[in-house]
Amino acid sequence: MGSVLFYVLLTSIATTTNAEFVVAQFRNIIKKRSTSDVIFNDIDIYSMTIYSKVTSRFAHNVITSRAVNRASVSKEVFFDVELPKTAFITNFSMTIDGSTYLGNIKEKEAAKKQYETAVSRGHTAGLVKASGRKTEKFTVSVNIAAASKVTFELTYEELLKRHLGKYEMLIKVKPKQLVKQFQIEANIFEPQGISELEALGSFINNDFTQTIEKSFSGKKGHVSFKPTIDQQRTCDNCSTSFLDGDFTIKYDVKRDSPGNLQIISGYFVHFFAPANLPRVPKNVIFVIDISQSMLGQKMEQTKEALLKILDDVKENDYFNFILFNNRIIPWKEYLVKATLHNLKEARKFVKSIKATGSTNINDALIRTVEMMNEVHKEKVLPERSSSTIIMLTDGNPTSGEFNQRKIQENVKNAIQGRYSLYNLAFGYDMDYNFLEKMALENNGLTRRIYEDSDSALQLQSFYDEMANPMLREVQLHYPINATSELTQNNFNHYYDGSEIVVAGRIIDNDLNSFTADVKAHGANNDVTFTEQVDIEETAKALQDQEYIFGDYIERLWAYLTIQQLLEKRISAQEEKRRTLAAEALELSLKYKFVTPLTSMVVTKPEDNEDKAAIADKPVEDTSIQHSYPSRASSDTSIHHSYPSRANSVDGDPHFLIEVPQKKDHLCFNINLNPGVVLNLVNDPDTGITVNGQLIGKKKVSNNGQTQKTYIGKLGIVNTQLDLKIEITTEKITLQNGRKTATFTWLDTTTLQQEGLTMEINREKNLVLSFGDGATFIVVLHRVWKKHPIHHDFLGLYTLDSHKVSEHTHGLLGQFFQHIDFEVFDIRPGSDPEKPHATMIVKNNKLTVTRVSEKDYGKDPSHGTIIPCWFIHNNGTGLIDGAHTDYIVSNLFSTPFIN
Ligand SMILES: *[C@@H]1O[C@H](CO)[C@@H](O)[C@H](O)[C@H]1NC(C)=O
Ligand SMILES: *[C@@H]1O[C@H](CO)[C@@H](O)[C@H](O)[C@H]1NC(C)=O
Ligand SMILES: *[C@@H]1O[C@H](CO)[C@@H](O)[C@H](O)[C@H]1NC(C)=O
Ligand SMILES: *[C@@H]1O[C@H](CO)[C@@H](O)[C@H](O)[C@H]1NC(C)=O
Repeated sequence: MGSVLFYVLLTSIATTTNAEFVVAQFRNIIKKRSTSDVIFNDIDIYSMTIYSKVTSRFAHNVITSRAVNRASVSKEVFFDVELPKTAFITNFSMTIDGSTYLGNIKEKEAAKKQYETAVSRGHTAGLVKASGRKTEKFTVSVNIAAASKVTFELTYEELLKRHLGKYEMLIKVKPKQLVKQFQIEANIFEPQGISELEALGSFINNDFTQTIEKSFSGKKGHVSFKPTIDQQRTCDNCSTSFLDGDFTIKYDVKRDSPGNLQIISGYFVHFFAPANLPRVPKNVIFVIDISQSMLGQKMEQTKEALLKILDDVKENDYFNFILFNNRIIPWKEYLVKATLHNLKEARKFVKSIKATGSTNINDALIRTVEMMNEVHKEKVLPERSSSTIIMLTDGNPTSGEFNQRKIQENVKNAIQGRYSLYNLAFGYDMDYNFLEKMALENNGLTRRIYEDSDSALQLQSFYDEMANPMLREVQLHYPINATSELTQNNFNHYYDGSEIVVAGRIIDNDLNSFTADVKAHGANNDVTFTEQVDIEETAKALQDQEYIFGDYIERLWAYLTIQQLLEKRISAQEEKRRTLAAEALELSLKYKFVTPLTSMVVTKPEDNEDKAAIADKPVEDTSIQHSYPSRASSDTSIHHSYPSRANSVDGDPHFLIEVPQKKDHLCFNINLNPGVVLNLVNDPDTGITVNGQLIGKKKVSNNGQTQKTYIGKLGIVNTQLDLKIEITTEKITLQNGRKTATFTWLDTTTLQQEGLTMEINREKNLVLSFGDGATFIVVLHRVWKKHPIHHDFLGLYTLDSHKVSEHTHGLLGQFFQHIDFEVFDIRPGSDPEKPHATMIVKNNKLTVTRVSEKDYGKDPSHGTIIPCWFIHNNGTGLIDGAHTDYIVSNLFSTPFIN
């Protein structure tokens, strides 16, 4: 018997700079088999537990779910978990009827190859991934036989960061059904002693607060939440569960000394968070994008946040605003002291801000740095103060310098390490990588502000975190000859409410005591802190504790090192990037962390319904997320009408997008390997998904050119009709509930049933309509049977989009929405037939080429020639996110449909 791969391609973002905490969601979905079938009672999730062990901020969490299939037929069971972006998965297992299938963490490419092999053998997939604000979601589904049991167990680890004075662990719970045994258990061990501990559930009203047990004493804390099945009910006789929301645990430790050193088995960790220091005065310039795209809610929320922030500016601080669009508009010529009078004027100024114009990031930042330089030269500012630039933007540069690399270079050369640059990325319409790299090169960080009702609060809370610098230029030193492999040990700032963590190896085994020296610039003078511990004593004290799991300091060190290597990679040069990646990979494999460089594979014996699955990483720099469930909208039932237009994918595979108001077309290609399945259309509201699988040529040319691929298979799913249609170049298979019907391309037939009309025109095309809208035409391209190179292939045309909703996405589907572009500077290209031009589309500036593509929508035999603007590099800049974001695991994947 062969074996099928259960493939989990999981990658965590290197959000090292992100002060976000544990979020785990736990959700099980039972899929509907047919619209009439209500089968919630068939799959009984009888147990769900979340066990957390936290030792010195390092959290080890195990989520276990047990279910039994009470139906008389096999059923699909979903395991759906949301993890913090900052966590690394370390283990996963499935136990089906007593047999356990274990996760195996591998280098990403190696794992991917195995997955592709599994897919090409025709196995279907079941694992998808999307992300929320703080979380990454992953789903595994498995088919289990009647009366069978399945246990899923997932383990993840992370270092809790101190944020506004507290470590926070947030567990999202959403079991969707009553669970006989539901339990959250957290045991916390902190050698410094716990000073406070809270546990809250957003879904728990006053009547139920007593269902949460919490206690702490000395070094140990405990939280338990174990609602009985009756307590889970939304009302006395209801069968619905009120468990739906955030379960939050917050705590802090005692701070009797500025820091705390812990040592176990050759590794040390140093937590540094001195209390009661005088605050360092702050000089800050707020650089605010007021371009046209900010108009409306974003601008109003920004103003609201700035007004709140002004309330928090301290009297010794200096500040200024520089507004920018295509012009640079400073509030004052210099930074001014935060006197009552100046703050009052500033409020008036903020209230008067209006959005208009385009975006010139380069000149705005250069002008800001010049202003900072001047006030420093004039010695206006307090001598021992901290200088910060906070820029907020919602898009890419659209005026002045466009070249992002050039801007990064200019800004870095201007700042020269003297000030910290923090970038706030408002929404998804910008290149996050560009902002992130720029901030990292200038001792700062980048934070996404999500467009939502609480955007102002997000901005304000970002400022709160860095509102109170207590130390600058913090350097942490350890015995040079006795330690190695230190994590980052110098920091620009220590902010009140945060904590600095350094870990490393101790290479001198004969050491009796260990000393940490910290040097920093304080508000009034330079300060030093010294910490010394007796190695044997600390090790003994820690090792006796029952809460400790293994060598947690070593894992904490590995976690921190990997996070920092991945972050360094962002701003490193090519050569250096490779060595950093190699180091991070080695550690990820050694310590079994699923990071952006590794993947986890689970193998399981073959039977008819097994799944191989892939979950793609939602990376922070893509904009695709905003169309997906993370941005829930309240009016999902309303379908909007858009002008009817003909968008298509055909050929190699070229995408052709009609832009009616410009009477023109856009086009792009996607070059990925044969076997890959792309999501072309998905509409979460109507439940319609169209995926296409790529095929290559029969013979691969070895001339080093990228191999051309075509669409070889299409999968169309309508979850509302419980319908799956597979279209290959041979046949058309319809699966409705448990019924299957097969047609070949030699048929000429029309099939009509509720909600669906399908017309097959022998050897030509197939017209598929859902109701009175959403019509797709599939064109069959037959090549000469013995053609030495080409296979037959398919084209997909979307003719009418009245029936799709505004939430429709996918490589083609996203273009059902209004899209506009500007083309200018048309110039000759290397091919006189194909001029180049500059295009502004979705706030991106692109170089495009005029080409012609063939449209077979109306004339399937000969096609019609359509001139279009070709967007290079797999449609980068035109499509939302990266082209690889659209890869799905199999023809019938519906990752974006709930
Ligand atoms: C992974 O989980 C399995 C199943 O619970 C367990 O037996 C195994 O020891 C775990 N592996 C590690 C490295 O913790
Ligand atoms: C719950 O159901 C029982 C049995 O049908 C009934 O006697 C009782 O009144 C119901 N309680 C409520 C609050 O509806
Ligand atoms: C560390 O080792 C070097 C060379 O072995 C020696 O010269 C130096 O004095 C040592 N430093 C300390 C602080 O022990
Ligand atoms: C398109 O993407 C593929 C895979 O990510 C890459 O190998 C290829 O170089 C890209 N092609 C272009 C023209 O950018």
